[in-house]
Amino acid sequence: MADSKSKNKNLHQAKASKKDEFYTQLTDIEKELKHYRHHFAGKVVYCNCDDPRVSNFFHYFFYNFEKLGLKKLITTCYKNQNPDLFSNHDSEKAIYLEYEGDKNANGVPDPAEIGIKHLKGDGDFRSQECIELLKQADIVVTNPPFSLFREYVAQLIEYDKKFVIIGNQNAITYKEIFKLIKENKIWLGPSIHSGDREFGVPKDYPLNAAGCRVDENGNKFIRVKGVRWFTNLDYKERHEELILTKTYKGNEKDYPKYDNYNAINVDKTKDIPMDYDGAMGVPITFLDKYNPEQFEIISSNDIRRNEKVPFKEHGLIKDKDGTINGKATYARIVIKHKKI
Ligand SMILES: C[S@@+](CC[C@H](N)C(=O)[O-])C[C@H]1O[C@@H](n2cnc3c(N)ncnc32)[C@H](O)[C@@H]1O
Repeated sequence: MADSKSKNKNLHQAKASKKDEFYTQLTDIEKELKHYRHHFAGKVVYCNCDDPRVSNFFHYFFYNFEKLGLKKLITTCYKNQNPDLFSNHDSEKAIYLEYEGDKNANGVPDPAEIGIKHLKGDGDFRSQECIELLKQADIVVTNPPFSLFREYVAQLIEYDKKFVIIGNQNAITYKEIFKLIKENKIWLGPSIHSGDREFGVPKDYPLNAAGCRVDENGNKFIRVKGVRWFTNLDYKERHEELILTKTYKGNEKDYPKYDNYNAINVDKTKDIPMDYDGAMGVPITFLDKYNPEQFEIISSNDIRRNEKVPFKEHGLIKDKDGTINGKATYARIVIKHKKI
């Protein structure tokens, strides 16, 4: 019994760590980072989940170092000593790299300009030596392991770092992450609003899922749904007003109230009524259009009708609880107009 339990646990861990090995494509990085160019001048950038030999985050900052006017690029790699394309994590020690630009101004980054050093430990972003590197950094940019997303973000907040990172949109509904979104300490980046994105996966990754591809060099790729950028760097588009065309007045029947909350339900972000000054439950994807000057995210607890509702959330109405005439809706974020 104990045996099968621990087998299950190992299998679960193996599955989780396989899911952590998704490598971001350069085009996706470029499409996002072009929105933040002005933030990078004179800054130390840290990619702390990145093997410099395969990471496109490293590649992007390395080759755009002068263009962005960076001060320094630091990259740490988790456990990897294998020079093959994708990680095997077969060593307990890891490397890190510090780059301070094209010092001899010959237009190319020379090996002598790239300082590859050995870490004492395995390069875990939570290790003391990686935390010391984090302290030097101004902006952290990477795709961290999905399975450690909560912990990863908590550390960035604890050390008061600016960041641009990739995560799954499900993370929006994590209590700890949602709280930060509600307090305007994190928001979604501008370049991915829907659809899926293709990531590189290790050579031994099972390719039985839909959306898998192998290129002419044998590199494997998989399409992942629900990916989003999470950041605390400001960008222009998040201050653009969402244009609304619907009114509540005259269309009340399209916006029923929840059984347990004093809020109207709005099924599509584009249908948010321009004239309703109370609480509104909107789809999670509203965050793709969220302008903090136009709307505020409010606490769902404040508008609960029934104190016996079993869970306490901070702004989310969960499907099982957000019923209308006893029928469950999807999970909703509770918002309010700021200006009316
Ligand atoms: C989703 S992958 C992304 C890799 C790379 N950042 C990219 O976008 O191409 C996450 C990486 O974090 C590494 N990783 C897993 N656990 C880690 C930890 N505790 N500390 C640092 N890196 C970790 C994984 O080995 C994996 O290479």
